[in-house]
Amino acid sequence: MQFEVIAKCHTTRARVCRMKLAHGVTMLPTFMPVATQAAIKGLTPQQVESLGITLILNNTYHLNLRPGIKVLDEAGGAHKFQGWNRNLLTDSGGFQLVSLSKFTKITEDGALFASPFNGEPTMLTPEQSISIQHSIGADIIMQLDDVVSSLTVGPRVGEAMHRSVRWLDRCIEQHEKSGRKDKQNLFAIVQGGLDPALRDLCLDAMIERKDQVTGYAIGGLSGGEEKDVFWKIIKQCADRLPSDRPRYSMGVGFAEDLLVCVALGVDMADCVFPTRTARFGVALTFKGPLNLKLGKHTKSMDPIDKSCPCPTCASGMSRAVLHHIVTIETAGAHALTIHNLVFQARVMGGARDAILEGRFPEYLRSFFFDYFGDTG
Ligand code: GUN
Ligand code: ZN
Repeated sequence: MQFEVIAKCHTTRARVCRMKLAHGVTMLPTFMPVATQAAIKGLTPQQVESLGITLILNNTYHLNLRPGIKVLDEAGGAHKFQGWNRNLLTDSGGFQLVSLSKFTKITEDGALFASPFNGEPTMLTPEQSISIQHSIGADIIMQLDDVVSSLTVGPRVGEAMHRSVRWLDRCIEQHEKSGRKDKQNLFAIVQGGLDPALRDLCLDAMIERKDQVTGYAIGGLSGGEEKDVFWKIIKQCADRLPSDRPRYSMGVGFAEDLLVCVALGVDMADCVFPTRTARFGVALTFKGPLNLKLGKHTKSMDPIDKSCPCPTCASGMSRAVLHHIVTIETAGAHALTIHNLVFQARVMGGARDAILEGRFPEYLRSFFFDYFGDTG
């Protein structure tokens, strides 16, 4: 990876970076849409690329279950398998195991779960997670981490943090011996829950391994904790993580959270929120979310957002027709998904432009003023 800080905001920790990976350049800060099953729900890869999106996320857990590494190896990796020629990041599977399977048991060896196909006990170790991510061939791969809900308290939080550090070492070893270090970039994931002391211990250990990893993620957040605690942990981590490496906050997708994270020095984020909320009929706008299922849109000939350059708004699709079809015709969900991904890209692209032009604080002020003001 080539990583370069291009510009910094003078009053916040926000920055613009250029990240060059094997499948091209991605400018940061950026929001990464989630393509869990090797597809952004509702969109073709060509559509996603045409929106200017250069980095998306796949999930190791899902792709390992189906189609499986045999198919991915035969295809020559997930880029070819899904027809996506730009950058790709894979999450390691740890978080999905915990969030999706009630029967996951974490041991020192790895995560033991019941296969959703045949109920057989199946183990995902750090070594296997990395090896599966090698078959997938993503440009950025994530360590397997021991994830606990951000609402968990007690000794389990510390245990998970220390185990995540030990698992990072096993991931590093598996990655080093693979000969793929020049093509695929391993990121460490800082854990430690909402406890600043545990976060500091995790940061100490993971920063010590700086020469063995390319970038850092902040994990274990966005699980329903109070915002002020979330921001404090993000700030603590972003302040200490090396400034010459990308910083990725996992599972962050609300525009207001993205911008606070950017102001605190975060470069990347991902979340299913914009695509999922689209399928539920909600369009994201600079004046706040717009629920198109509401009856008040029945006769509105306005587009979602007159100033939006997305194909949905530019083509003149009315709020009325979106209201009419949104939950009954799949085209409605596609149209809203396109709009919402362009919205996320405008929020982040607007932040990049503002940082470059030395007016990021004004950008923040006007965003928050519009977003939480009266909706039209
Ligand atoms: N996605 C959201 N949060 C996390 C996390 O803490 N770890 C991983 N691996 N994925 C996540
Ligand atoms: Zn639009």
